[in-house]
Amino acid sequence: MSAGNHGSVRRAPGGLRLVLLGAPASGKGTQGQKLSQALGIPKVSTGDMLRAARDAGSELGKLADGIMAAGKLVPDDLVIRLVDERLAGADAARGFILDGFPRTLPQARALDELLERKGASLNAALCIDLPRELLMERATLRRTDVRTGQIYHLKYNPPPDSAELAQHLVHRDDDKEETVRKRLDAYDNMTAPLLPYYQAKNLLCHVDGVGSPDEVSARIDRVVRQLNGASYSIEAGTGSASSSDTSGKDASTEGGADGG
Ligand code: AP5
Repeated sequence: MSAGNHGSVRRAPGGLRLVLLGAPASGKGTQGQKLSQALGIPKVSTGDMLRAARDAGSELGKLADGIMAAGKLVPDDLVIRLVDERLAGADAARGFILDGFPRTLPQARALDELLERKGASLNAALCIDLPRELLMERATLRRTDVRTGQIYHLKYNPPPDSAELAQHLVHRDDDKEETVRKRLDAYDNMTAPLLPYYQAKNLLCHVDGVGSPDEVSARIDRVVRQLNGASYSIEAGTGSASSSDTSGKDASTEGGADGG
């Protein structure tokens, strides 16, 4: 299904359990943050957890560091354990947004089993679609505030001009062009097979990722309102992208790539 066709979305009056799919730098973190704030449920990013483990110097972090810098995927059992522990947190009981997990079929199956043990299931897998040339530009010009996790983009969402903030902005090691290419290949080989997996479960919804963060949010909002019985909507205006459409495509285009 596409963002313009919600015929089979699963309503979730008791909370939302969402997976955000999409290639590296497609906007999962940006949209996950907005959704998390709007819905009051945590965004669970395995990339953020692995980077935190790396920065803390834990055994897991040391192992993950080299793998991430090489643009490869961390072994399934390690990330599955991380997610299992994280979703046991009280704040995830009312729902969650998974950003960057699952990334392989074994991870997707493990997630299904994990939720089944809790008597729960996913409500939707939203895939943010973006052409490869835009993915590269979004990744290489990304900057992140290490203190807050706030994501900026030097061209589309520039950080405020502040000497203090500048000290805390990082350019991720894996956002160098060569590594981004490897991450995109890993996505095509390992993660893209999740699309038919969720399609077969009637959970897949494509969202067009071209356009400003607010435009993309509005598309996601329409899907999520359907899921949750239209009881809320995501605040527009929280994103600050200064320019939106870098492809010439109409950013107001509804729906995703294939219409599912
Ligand atoms: P992870 O951190 O998950 O990286 P990723 O999936 O590659 O995604 P990104 O964080 O790069 O991008 P995003 O889609 O969140 O985009 P963002 O919103 O930041 O994983 C990193 C590594 O950890 C992996 O390579 C792997 O090694 C390991 N790992 C993680 N999870 C794993 C797992 N489950 N299994 C195994 N290994 C795992 O946006 C990108 C940029 O674009 C930003 O600058 C943003 O400001 C800008 N932007 C966003 N939206 C817009 C817009 N609409 N218009 C203009 N600019 C925009």
